[in-house]
Amino acid sequence: MDGRGLNRVAVAVVLSVGVMAGAYGVARGLVPDTTPARLAMVLPGHGAVDIAPYLERADMGHGARMVEQVCGGCHALKAGAGDGAGPNLFGVVGRPIASAPGYAYSDALRHSAAGRTWTEQTLSDWLSSPDRFAPGTRMSLNGLTDPALRADIIAYLRTLRQPPD
Ligand code: HEC
Repeated sequence: MDGRGLNRVAVAVVLSVGVMAGAYGVARGLVPDTTPARLAMVLPGHGAVDIAPYLERADMGHGARMVEQVCGGCHALKAGAGDGAGPNLFGVVGRPIASAPGYAYSDALRHSAAGRTWTEQTLSDWLSSPDRFAPGTRMSLNGLTDPALRADIIAYLRTLRQPPD
C-alpha cells in the first residue's frame, strides 16, 4: 500500500471511531443507566433459587446415593433409628423446623425456625447455605450450590416417610 492508501485507512479508522463514540454518546443520552441498585424481586430465603422447576426433573436415585454419602455420616435416615451428630431425617419433609423429639438443637436453628416447616423450598435454602439460613448453626456443611443436586437430595428426602395406610 502506498502512502495515500495508508492515509485513507487512517481516515477511515478515525471516522469510524468517531461515529461509534458519537452513537454511544447519543445512546447514553437516550437510554438511562437503569441497572437497579437492588434486585427488584427477592424470593424467600435471601434471594434463593425457586427449587420447584428443578424438582420436576430431579433424579431421586442420585439423591439417595448423595444423601448416604454426604449426610449419612451425621444423620440417621430410618424411622426410630435415633439421632447421630444431627437429628434423624426420617419424615423431615413437612416437619416443623428443629422439632425432632429429644434432639438438642442449637439456639441458632431454633431461633431461625420461627414456626416454619421443612418444605422443599426451606430445605433448598438451608442446604444452599446452612450458615446463612441459621447463622451459627452446628451443621458444618458447606452449602450445596448446585440447585439440581439439592433437588435430587430433596426428592429422596421426600421418600423418607411412613407409607400411607
Ligand atoms: C457434619 C455433620 C453433618 C452433615 C454432613 C450433615 N448434617 Fe444436617 N445437621 C447436622 C447437625 C449437627 C444438625 C443440627 C443443627 C443445629 O442444631 O444447629 C443438622 C440439622 C439438619 C436439618 C434440620 C433437621 C430438623 O429436625 O430441623 C436438616 C434438614 C439437615 N440437617 C439435613 C442435612 C442433609 C440433607 C445433609 C446432606 C446433604 C446434611 N444435613 C449433612 C449435621 C450434619
